[in-house]
Amino acid sequence: MTDSSDTAPKKLFIKTYGCQMNVYDSERMAEAMGANGYVTTENAEEADMVLLNTCHIREKAAEKVYSDLGRLRPLKAAKPGMKIGVAGCVAQAEGAEILRRMPLVDLVVGPQSYHRLPEMVAAEGQQIDTDFPLEDKFDHLPERKALRGPTAFLTVQEGCDKFCAFCVVPYTRGSEVSRPAARLLAEARDLVTRGVREITLLGQNVNGYHGAGEDGVWGLSRLLREMAGIEGLERLRYTTSHPNDMDDDLIAAHGDLPQLMPYLHLPVQSGSDRILKAMNRKHTAEHYLRLIERIRAARPDILLSSDFIVGFPGETDRDFEDTMDLIRAVGFGAAFSFKYSARPGTPAAEKPELPAELCDTRLHALQALITDQQRAAQAAMVGREVGVLYEKPGRMPGQMVGKSDHLHAVHVMDPTGKVGELVRVRVIAAAPNSLAAERLPG
Ligand code: SAH
Ligand code: SF4
Ligand code: F3S
Repeated sequence: MTDSSDTAPKKLFIKTYGCQMNVYDSERMAEAMGANGYVTTENAEEADMVLLNTCHIREKAAEKVYSDLGRLRPLKAAKPGMKIGVAGCVAQAEGAEILRRMPLVDLVVGPQSYHRLPEMVAAEGQQIDTDFPLEDKFDHLPERKALRGPTAFLTVQEGCDKFCAFCVVPYTRGSEVSRPAARLLAEARDLVTRGVREITLLGQNVNGYHGAGEDGVWGLSRLLREMAGIEGLERLRYTTSHPNDMDDDLIAAHGDLPQLMPYLHLPVQSGSDRILKAMNRKHTAEHYLRLIERIRAARPDILLSSDFIVGFPGETDRDFEDTMDLIRAVGFGAAFSFKYSARPGTPAAEKPELPAELCDTRLHALQALITDQQRAAQAAMVGREVGVLYEKPGRMPGQMVGKSDHLHAVHVMDPTGKVGELVRVRVIAAAPNSLAAERLPG
């Protein structure tokens, strides 16, 4: 009798934490492993290899990795050949400690080294690679081939040189590197041939993109303008931006390019100039508000979202009120908000922390205000005509679900609708987290 395990493909389970770049990296790691005989599974229990693609941004996110690894112990005990890998930003920041604390881990691979994953998996004994290699990992990854859903991420820039006082990203992702424009355009064209109609360009500091183009260095606006020329690519988005890198041409692109969707995530973190300075953000609240005015002048219907940190060391009631005032002045369509989390190795971690209850109170107040603004923005969509790109069938028979131009989740009753179709709809109702709409003819 032959043993089917010799010929059957091995199964890879990946759990992704953190930001969209990790989602993109997980896809690329799955492709790299796919070229080496692994297929992905949704079920850790049947996996031959489990890979945790981790996030180090806040303490809770990082600690979760250790508790998840603990839960894998019985699985690995029941399946001796099983490999366990830790990738991503915790791997970068705490690689050696992971191997020490968690002997069940077979390999640790940082965000800039994961093209080496297949050879590390094949090797004996615990493996670690957290270098920032000089060569580009993208040169060593397999071509992307399979057909895929209508939306895709595309990393154009990685790393950050801004060193905000609270943030680990410059340490876990390294300094800013932009990928060459020709490579990105080729990758975007290839994604379109495989069914993609919307691409979100990714970077830790995406609007700081400065990649080699055919006639010199291109900024993000030039890259977007070229991508808008790709036939079949209907929608473009980009994230995450820094306020200091929103240049005039990028703002103008929001008015010029119909493919560039009217949604912008532009983290401000605080509305207090004192705190912004302590955070090393290098912009003021006023600078941010003027910027928003210019962006809205270019694209009046743009929906804005942001990130906020409450309880940064030294934040007074007055500072917090300044943040609330900024939120009231802008009117956001969405936002992410977090309690400050001291991260080892960052300058802010040296400073005394505020009491936890005070941070909780402030976070609740800020989130209540954001929720009000989000509901108002959703309610304001009712009656309007927007585009929706269908991403999957809904829970009800005949229902399709997709994202609007403004990135709202939209449900449409459309029994003949197909995944990947870009349709015009009229919004008929707003629920707390989504919109309902009817399809318009044509
Ligand atoms: N490059 C992006 C994203 C950085 S991480 C940017 O500059 O916006 C995403 C968000 O996590 C940040 O915008 C910030 O609001 C939050 N964050 C980062 N470090 C944090 C910390 N130490 N504590 C709490 N929130 C943090
Ligand atoms: Fe972190 Fe600031 Fe860089 Fe964003 S800009 S990744 S918050 S250091
Ligand atoms: Fe987290 Fe790393 Fe992204 S720390 S937010 S996974 S860049």
